Amino acid sequence: MKKVNVTINGIQVYVPADYTILQAAREVHIDIPTLCFLKDVNEMGCCRMCVVEVKGSKTLQAACVHPVKEGMEVLTHSAKVMKARKATLELILSNHDGDCQTCTRSWMDCELQVLANKLSVDTIRFQGNPKERLDIDEGISIVRNNNKCILCRRCVSACKKIQTV
Ligand code: SF4
Ligand code: FES
Repeated sequence: MKKVNVTINGIQVYVPADYTILQAAREVHIDIPTLCFLKDVNEMGCCRMCVVEVKGSKTLQAACVHPVKEGMEVLTHSAKVMKARKATLELILSNHDGDCQTCTRSWMDCELQVLANKLSVDTIRFQGNPKERLDIDEGISIVRNNNKCILCRRCVSACKKIQTV
């Protein structure tokens, strides 16, 4: 496999040419937050939590799907990146039934909550669409609360690709 040189936050890394920026960053233990990404199952770049700056690119890129390239220079935690991630998370939370105190996923079993803490999201500047309260789907093997859905599509991909249902 051909390999390429990439610089991430000033650190040089030599990785296979078919790697994404996220994979390359993990090689050098740089933590890029993700929400929708589920390796080999859900790799569609829809939540935008993993955005990074790529030198020469006008817009921020989703690290989980953006391929590396020889000579690429990436910034994963610049002020611009952190501002974008925080705003994205606020938008997600503005449409989320965030009753953490009574939620079964609370107390660090919730990726969304952990991320909100990490990005210091304590107030939400945006007003989400008032939604009709949806019934909780309590199946035999899975409980699905659509009032908390953040549209990451991981459950859809897991059902389709792994369970084939
Ligand atoms: S899913 Fe997570 S963020 Fe949402 S209410 Fe439950 S604990 Fe809070
Ligand atoms: S984790 Fe990359 S876009 Fe969601």
